[in-house]
Amino acid sequence: MTSNLTNPMNLNDSLDVLRRETVAAISEASDSETLAAIEAGAVGRESPIAAARRSLGKMAPEERRDAGRLINDVAKELEALVEERREELRADERAAKITAEAIDVTVDYTRLPQGRLHIIQQVMDEVCDIFVGLGYHIAEGPEAELAWYNFDALNTPPDHPGRLESDTMYLDYGKPEDEMLLRAHTSPIQARYMETHEPPVYIVAPGRAYRNDTIDASHLPVFHQIEGLAVDESIEFSDLKGTLAEFARQFFGSTTQVRMRPHFFPFTEPSAELDVSCFNCDGGESSCRVCKGVGWLEMLGCGMVDPNVFTAVGYDPEEVTGFAFGMGVERLAMVRHGIDSIRHFVDNDVRFLNQFPG
Ligand code: DAH
Repeated sequence: MTSNLTNPMNLNDSLDVLRRETVAAISEASDSETLAAIEAGAVGRESPIAAARRSLGKMAPEERRDAGRLINDVAKELEALVEERREELRADERAAKITAEAIDVTVDYTRLPQGRLHIIQQVMDEVCDIFVGLGYHIAEGPEAELAWYNFDALNTPPDHPGRLESDTMYLDYGKPEDEMLLRAHTSPIQARYMETHEPPVYIVAPGRAYRNDTIDASHLPVFHQIEGLAVDESIEFSDLKGTLAEFARQFFGSTTQVRMRPHFFPFTEPSAELDVSCFNCDGGESSCRVCKGVGWLEMLGCGMVDPNVFTAVGYDPEEVTGFAFGMGVERLAMVRHGIDSIRHFVDNDVRFLNQFPG
């Protein structure tokens, strides 16, 4: 601002120039700092307006009044414009900040199609949950296993047909005397667990098992089992039956009945197979597509732990007794959901898998 306001002769003109220049500058100011500089330059302590006020004292009294009012009017007008512009700039700056920092919580651009657990995993979780509710712990073991745990520790003699390569898949790995294999059932987890834990034992052990089977509607070379084991001071056969009956009611429905048929397994004596009453027809319809009119569905193998198994893992069979059971997860799922071929579980057809949202 070049105006010289201290000379009363051109005070009027100079104020007018200052006014016009400052008004233009104010409206062009694009941020608060620039505006503050304009304000200081026009009406601040070092400004022409301040200098003009200081020079009023040298004027004749009759001039002074008009000049004073003129200066004040211009100063007030400019201050008002500065204030107005300052508000505008503040609003602009606030709006820009809000825009820059905005997070639109209504925009859902990260949503991906949701996956789900495979029906086999769902059934495995459900069965384990039921047993956890009965006080059992979850145990696990390796899929690549030693023949000792898969067979010998489980009282399975060297000439047992299950040991043949036509049944069990052996691994060309480790020392030859280790006889490494892909476990043919989850039962070796029983032996491994007892070897490393003192009784009492209450465990369920879910996992994959492998057999040298040809694929058909009810066989896969890789399938899933859930093993159960209870060892304590005075466990009886009735405990086994009661426990499995409770499991069957929770898994298949509260009116489910169970029955046991004698069977043979090397690691249990006596051994049995457990059937559950058909949940579809309640055992009453000869045309039932689930049980084919039998009324019962074969569910799992079980029995009282053979004393030889206790000896093999370092337990004293005079001190403890126990029961064990093993069930096929694919079979549980097929029976409950009326699935006609085990192959559906591995075909990976989403039209099949999406029927089990979990
Ligand atoms: N391991 C047996 C199988 O794969 C199932 C089984 C039967 C497990 C009886 C057990 C049991 O623990 O006591 O056919």
